[in-house]
Amino acid sequence: MSIDYRSEIERIKKSQGVTVVAHFYQRDEVFEMADITGDSLELARRCKADTNPWVVFCGVGFMGQSVKVIAPEKRVLMPKIACCAMARMIDGSYFDESVNYMVERGVPKENILPITYINSDASVKAKVGEMGGMVCTSSNAYKIIQKGLESGKKILFVPDRCLGQNFAHEMGLRSCVIGEGECDPKEADIICFNGFCSVHQLFTVDDINFYRERYPGILIAVHPECDPAVVQAADFAGSTSQLIKYVDALDPEQKVAVGTEYNLVNRMREKNTYVLSSTKPECPTMNETTLEDLYRTLKSIEDGKPINEIVVDEHTVKWANIALERMLEIQ
Ligand code: 13P
Ligand code: SF4
Repeated sequence: MSIDYRSEIERIKKSQGVTVVAHFYQRDEVFEMADITGDSLELARRCKADTNPWVVFCGVGFMGQSVKVIAPEKRVLMPKIACCAMARMIDGSYFDESVNYMVERGVPKENILPITYINSDASVKAKVGEMGGMVCTSSNAYKIIQKGLESGKKILFVPDRCLGQNFAHEMGLRSCVIGEGECDPKEADIICFNGFCSVHQLFTVDDINFYRERYPGILIAVHPECDPAVVQAADFAGSTSQLIKYVDALDPEQKVAVGTEYNLVNRMREKNTYVLSSTKPECPTMNETTLEDLYRTLKSIEDGKPINEIVVDEHTVKWANIALERMLEIQ
């Protein structure tokens, strides 16, 4: 007899006190089962406020880790401990190298304020916290960078070079990318690590030109993980939640092409909404989690043998928490 995953998931959630959380990029079948959905910032906030002892997080590794760091008393499981490709581009040693890069070029360590995009491992967040820095997400990066600048220090922004450059441009600041051309930290306000999201790199200015020529008057909305040339050619850039709000507020007849992950764009209004690409821009790791995986994870709680539990050591929790809380206090 086949298992009705949906009703089993609902049953176990209630009986075991489990909150299911899903990022917007999750498959529809998984997304529909979630109690909490949102962009990275909303997920972090709402998980912190949630009272259930168990969280089953459908997303990528750094997101589940962030819940564990913010609320260490919770048991956090992930149906798939899938790693965000961008988060994987930096670890503690690359972070140290980036700090050294700046020190060797004349910026003393005490004059560096690191900011890490939430798409990073807890160990990187901890290093950032230890240096007095903060976490940011795509929805609050402007405010966090502004706050960071009040220190009068140089900002080391990791790991997403696009987010760093895009906000520098929006704020009228000078930026450079370590390893790309001449990057003199003394001449820049924001010094970016050379990481990126391979999914958001798929969107190009040619795609924008294609849509503008084909549908005169169309609007272009993109995520700030896109290349700076793409963001500057677009009409709007924002986090996943901000993109949803932007599209929802449009006149139903207004055409819009959206540059972010396929599952999210596909879930937006049916009419007059296009994926800004000739490819299907799916995040491979976000797509790993299936309804069956979600069921198995919940069942493991009921059976008293939890699988894929997120464990973060005490030192990392302490300092990553400080970096995350500094962000939450500002927002
Ligand atoms: P949001 O903060 O907009 O949810 O983005 C997370 C992410 O991974 C985008 O690729
Ligand atoms: Fe990471 Fe890009 Fe996937 Fe977002 S879309 S989770 S940044 S790989």
